[in-house]
Amino acid sequence: MKRMVVMISGGGSNLQALIDAVQSGRLPVQILAVVSNRKSAYGLTRAQNASIPTLYFPLKPYTDKGFDREEYDADLAYRVGEYHPDLIVLAGWMHVLSANFLNYLAGIPVINLHPALPGMFAGTHAIQRAYEAWQRGEIDHSGCMVHEVVPEVDAGPVVAQAVVPFLPGDTLEAYEARMHEAEHQLIVEATAFMLSRLAAR
Ligand code: GRF
Repeated sequence: MKRMVVMISGGGSNLQALIDAVQSGRLPVQILAVVSNRKSAYGLTRAQNASIPTLYFPLKPYTDKGFDREEYDADLAYRVGEYHPDLIVLAGWMHVLSANFLNYLAGIPVINLHPALPGMFAGTHAIQRAYEAWQRGEIDHSGCMVHEVVPEVDAGPVVAQAVVPFLPGDTLEAYEARMHEAEHQLIVEATAFMLSRLAAR
């Protein structure tokens, strides 16, 4: 059975999609732990409700002592590495991971879910920025993707993607809901693909 660590920062609805997929047998994987950099992340509660170990690992103690993000990323990588995962999934993880994190965990694939299509709306507030571009008549769809994590933000080889069209009269809330539905499916499909690739090794 392959093993993975899921990293979150917020509500954890994508984590919940992964938990549900594991419990239904759709994903042949053990979620070893859920790691969050925010204590208030409801995803931590979702993990506890599913009896999955959690690790709260904030950046603030590092910045308070004058340490930089690279120190934090290196220690975070060490802690994640201690679980010996085969795969690391960033599901709503809102902290750009430096090369330190990736280099320390070299050989363990890290994938990230981003609510935009490749090469579009990298960074934060991607859904809102796409919605505003649609309102300006610049695009008729956006989407979401799962990509392998490389030091450049929201770049890296695309593992899976899904188009999420805008519909006439869409409010931001309506579009966001449609995007999150697409994400919940995509994160499971992308994880299943990565696991199948790992099993083939
Ligand atoms: C998702 O839209 C994710 O793509 C983005 O933030 C949101 C997290 O949602 N990074 P959740 O925490 O999984 O509910």
